[in-house]
Formats: sequence, structure tokens, C-alpha cells
Amino acid sequence: MALYSEKVMDHFLHPRNVGVIEDADGVGEVGNAKCGDIMKIYLKIDNEIITDVKFETFGCGSAIASSSMATEMIKGKPVTEALELTNKAVAEALDGLPAHKMHCSVLAEEAIKNALEDYQSKQKK
Ligand code: FES
Repeated sequence: MALYSEKVMDHFLHPRNVGVIEDADGVGEVGNAKCGDIMKIYLKIDNEIITDVKFETFGCGSAIASSSMATEMIKGKPVTEALELTNKAVAEALDGLPAHKMHCSVLAEEAIKNALEDYQSKQKK
């Protein structure tokens, strides 16, 4: 059996939503201490709805595939729904990740949460 699902390969080879949003409403950045990989997420939010999302990563193939899928999953969704996105849901949407690559999907989940928190703290100001 192949190590990676077709969906993982597709999102790795053709990642969606790669890039930067210059005037983002929320930016999140996280790193994984073990592998040293970094993930950055930019959100554009209008009326509590995520209207645009972009990511940049200095990460492995699974991290690229996870963030590509995760950004697709939260685009057009309310902030409250995006806050509930789990790395497990991302991995499932990718038809699974090898066990030792699950932490790569955590990076995507945490970066999104981080960006949402950044957005919320800016709202309070
Ligand atoms: Fe570090 Fe995948 S090995 S994010």
C-alpha cells in the first residue's frame, strides 16, 4: 500500500491557497519544536465569515497537504466553525496520514487557531 493517499499527493503537488494576504485580519504562526517546521496562516474575515485564507509553510509534504486541505475546509465558514477544526478532521479529509505524520496536521490546526485568536484580540482593541 502506498504510504500517502491520492488526496495527500494531490494537495502536496497542487496546494490550494498558498501565499500571503497583505492586509490580513488575522495572522498565525506556529512551529514544531521537533522537526523545526514552520507554518503561517493569513485570514481575511468579513462579518465573522472567513472570506479568504492563505498559507506559507517551511514544512514537509504532509504539512503542505494538511494546510492546503485545512484552508479549503475553513474558507467561507464562520469563525466559530473554524475554531472547531481539528487536525483529525483534516487528516480524515485527506483520507488519512501515516501515524508518524499526524503532527504535521497539528501544525495546520494550531496555525489556524493562532490566526483566529489574533483576529479576535484585534477585534477587542
Ligand atoms: Fe514537520 Fe511534517 S515533519 S511538519
